[in-house]
Amino acid sequence: MKLTFYGHASLGIEVGETNILVDPFISQNPNASAIDIETLKADYILVTHAHQDHILDVETIAKRTDAVVVSNFEIATYYDNKGIKNHPMNHGGKWNFDFGIVKYVTAIHTSSFPDGSYGGQPGGFIIQAGEKTIYIAGDTALTLDMKLIPKFFDLNLAVLPIGDNFTMGLDEALVASDYVNCDKVLGVHYNTFDYIKIDGKKAMAKFLSKEKDLILLEIGDSIEI
Ligand code: NI
Ligand code: MN
Repeated sequence: MKLTFYGHASLGIEVGETNILVDPFISQNPNASAIDIETLKADYILVTHAHQDHILDVETIAKRTDAVVVSNFEIATYYDNKGIKNHPMNHGGKWNFDFGIVKYVTAIHTSSFPDGSYGGQPGGFIIQAGEKTIYIAGDTALTLDMKLIPKFFDLNLAVLPIGDNFTMGLDEALVASDYVNCDKVLGVHYNTFDYIKIDGKKAMAKFLSKEKDLILLEIGDSIEI
């Protein structure tokens, strides 16, 4: 499984021949100006919640690629009404897609579309594919529900928000890493806006002091797990 960071909380995931995009917010992210959304491949687009900084480029990319939007029922229905292919899910449910298993899990946050319409309850995803399992927390506070994840999944990577203010910050992300029983963390949702600026070097050192690995990728860079 190969993960590429497209800035903020946007990821590309390659599993074999399948390309999955997560929360594409790229075309209006000045930090991600080197990424051209017209070149991104997508068979599936996973959407954690309806906020603008997670859905901005979903419609454009889905219409060009004919990708299937995977999200909660409300978000899937929103895209269904625009003629976009979709797969609705809800919390606690999983589905065996052609590339692997996706489970939609709890997140503590809010989820309205930019026009104010209801985006259902926000979530995160567990993706089990290519013999690897990752947890994408989405925008969330630290929550005890995270302790349920290792009862069912043995994670290779946890993608956690670390920018604070709108989501948990570093101290909570460290505890989240314990709760989900995964010491390898890819940090997202930081530095995009003034509210979520962090010192990356200090953040990585903090994780290292707890014998954990915090990966912070440059936009456009990838990791293989
Ligand atoms: Ni949000
Ligand atoms: Mn967000």
